[in-house]
Amino acid sequence: MSAPRVVVLHGVNLDQLGVRDPAVYGSQTLSDLEAAISGFARDLGIRSVVFEQTNFEGEYVELLHKTRDTADALILNPGAWTHYSWAIRDALEIAGHPAVEVHLSDVQAREEWRRHSVISELCIGTISGKGADGYREALELLLHHEAPAAG
Ligand code: DQA
Repeated sequence: MSAPRVVVLHGVNLDQLGVRDPAVYGSQTLSDLEAAISGFARDLGIRSVVFEQTNFEGEYVELLHKTRDTADALILNPGAWTHYSWAIRDALEIAGHPAVEVHLSDVQAREEWRRHSVISELCIGTISGKGADGYREALELLLHHEAPAAG
């Protein structure tokens, strides 16, 4: 995909980065993280990257709906919603964009309930446990992704 418009959707509690368990999530704030992602996007020649964060599930669903007009590709870290929100899963399907799921922490190495994701099956890739670098990998995956031929 050449020069996609990417929307990065941060979910519940991601606004607490920097305060929240630094041993698991690191000491970067959400603004630090977004600045790092913008830098990766610039290096990779991505046309635009827009960030959203909300602690309200319905708002996250509506943000996903809006991406139908504003984005070509998505990066999602829905936080704890990842593990149970069928509403977000359905909204991602409606959005219809190639998407990569990212988690800062290694969800497979933590509690049992974090090991299941309701969105993975709709994503072209899932990256976890790599901190901010996971978002660089996600951007690279989207850049190299070719849309399936129509028909
Ligand atoms: C997270 C992992 C989730 O299990 C957790 O609920 C989060 C953050 C991560 O980025 O590692 O809020 O998505």
